[in-house]
Amino acid sequence: MRNIVAGNWKSNKLMGEAREWMDEMAEWLASHEGVEVMVGAPAPYLSVLANVAPEGLQVLAQNVSAEGHGAHTGEFTADMLKSCGVAGAIVGHSERRARYGDTDDRVKAKVRALVGEGLQAVFCCGETLEEREAGHQEQVVHRQLKAAVLDLDEDALNRVVVAYEPVWAIGTGKTATSAQAQEMHGAIRGWLADRFGDEKAADVAILYGGSCKPSNAAELFGKADINGGLIGGAALNPVDFQGVLAGHPDLKR
Ligand code: PGA
Repeated sequence: MRNIVAGNWKSNKLMGEAREWMDEMAEWLASHEGVEVMVGAPAPYLSVLANVAPEGLQVLAQNVSAEGHGAHTGEFTADMLKSCGVAGAIVGHSERRARYGDTDDRVKAKVRALVGEGLQAVFCCGETLEEREAGHQEQVVHRQLKAAVLDLDEDALNRVVVAYEPVWAIGTGKTATSAQAQEMHGAIRGWLADRFGDEKAADVAILYGGSCKPSNAAELFGKADINGGLIGGAALNPVDFQGVLAGHPDLKR
C-alpha cells in the first residue's frame, strides 16, 4: 500500500519562494518517514527543483502534453519531464478540465504518455456540485476513471495515483465529510478491483483533495480507502503542509 501526500502549488510562488519551501521541507523530511511526499510545481521551476529536491520529495509537473515531439508550441512532453528528473505530473485536474480543454480523451492520452515513460500519473477525478446534487457523483467519477485508467495494463497501473477531488470542495473551504469521501474512495477501489483484482486495487494510492488542511487531515486520512491527499492552498506554506502530513496515520518521526 502506498501512502502519499502531494502538494499542488498551481500558479503560485516565484522561484526564490519555491527554493525556500524546498529547504524547509528538506529539514523536516530528514526526521520524518512513512509517507511519500510530492509537490506539483509551475513548469519553469521543474528542472531546478527536481535537482535540489531532498530525498523523499518527488517533484511533479501540473500538466503534460497529450502529443509527442513536434510542432506543438508551448507544450512539453513526458520524456522531456523525465530528462529533467521530474517524477511525473498531475493530470485531469478539474481546473484544467473546465478551462483548458482537458477532455476525458486528452486526459487518457496524458496518463498514457506519462506511464509509457515510467513516470507517475497523479490522475484527478471528481464531480461538480450540480452533479452531486443530482446524485450523479459515482457515475461521473466512474466515467472519468473508465476513460483514463481502467483500460491500462497492470504494469502501467503501478504508476497511477488516483486523486478524488470533488470540484465543489476545491479552494472553497468546503471539505467533503470523511464519510462522503470514504464512500467515493470505496467506490473507486471497487471499480479498480473489478478491473484489476483486489490485490492490485489495494496497492493503488487513492488521495483525497479539496480544502484538506491540518485541522481535517487526520479525520480524512483515518478512513480505510483514503491513502493520503492532494493539497492545494495548505501546501503553499511548509508549516501548513507539514501539519497536513502530520495527520497521516503512517507518518513516523
Ligand atoms: P485546495 O486544492 O486544497 O486548495 O482545495 C486542492 C486541489 O485543487 O488539488
